[in-house]
Amino acid sequence: MSRVASSRKAAAFTGAGVSAESGIPTFRGDEGIWREYPPAVYGNLPGLAAAFLFRPRRVAGFAQDALRAFAAAEPNPAHRVLAEWEEEGRIAGVITQNVDGLHQAAGSREVLELHGNVHRLACRSCGHVFPGSRERLRATLGELERLTARRRGPGRRALFRALRSHLVPCERCGRGTRPDVVFFGERLPSGVLEAAARLASSCDLLICAGTSGVVQPAASLPLLAARAGAAVVEINPEPSALTPLADLFVPAPAGAFFAGLAAAGR
Ligand code: OAD
Repeated sequence: MSRVASSRKAAAFTGAGVSAESGIPTFRGDEGIWREYPPAVYGNLPGLAAAFLFRPRRVAGFAQDALRAFAAAEPNPAHRVLAEWEEEGRIAGVITQNVDGLHQAAGSREVLELHGNVHRLACRSCGHVFPGSRERLRATLGELERLTARRRGPGRRALFRALRSHLVPCERCGRGTRPDVVFFGERLPSGVLEAAARLASSCDLLICAGTSGVVQPAASLPLLAARAGAAVVEINPEPSALTPLADLFVPAPAGAFFAGLAAAGR
């Protein structure tokens, strides 16, 4: 505990659980999206392409559930307190596996997004990354809802058009784009893992919140921090793969825990 209290350079490492209280489902566990949409199919592009051909209604449901959660989500106290701590100089930054942009929406500036961000687009040709339009994303969601409400479900052509409707051409070269998110089997965005590793190995306290700690290479970051001498604190209602590494395990939902800290004046 004393290493936590005396920390001079802390950092946070977050996963899906930190956005659960913002209404975005986690991936694993009973309520996780991988239960309904297995990652072997829905977590990678070849799987999604095959599902699109053979089960278009399911693909439409998957995209609709995901977009609906992302479109409606607002930061919760976990995002807000971490942003305040950065502002006050208590933490150097946040390393996140989340693609929802909620840390930035809460005011965090130093956010290392290991798996990208659904609110950005990436050019398939020149690699340029730029912000997507939230209105277009909402329009895509509206179109998916319209298609799935039809009794015979969405036709493949209409679904293809709907899924691509927010993917505007690259603002730099005019070629086709894709969501700036990392699917299984893809490389992490260049430089981000390296920056995350630098932060993890140079902090003296790593606050891990809302991650099962099973997806590599992200899951190695707490180990890197611990090996470099940092104290590791974990906030998670359930023990995870990181718990054996943690110096302190706080068995609580992150939003409620940070709200409690805020109420207690920290
Ligand atoms: P997971 O779904 O694997 O784990 C979520 C963790 O959050 C679990 O340990 C839960 O117990 C915990 N949790 C649930 N509610 C919580 C709450 N309110 N507060 C705090 N913790 C809570 O999500 P990640 O670890 O983020 O990658 O998953 C890592 C990666 O696997 C994701 O980035 C994604 C996924 O496949 C890609 O898509 C590449």
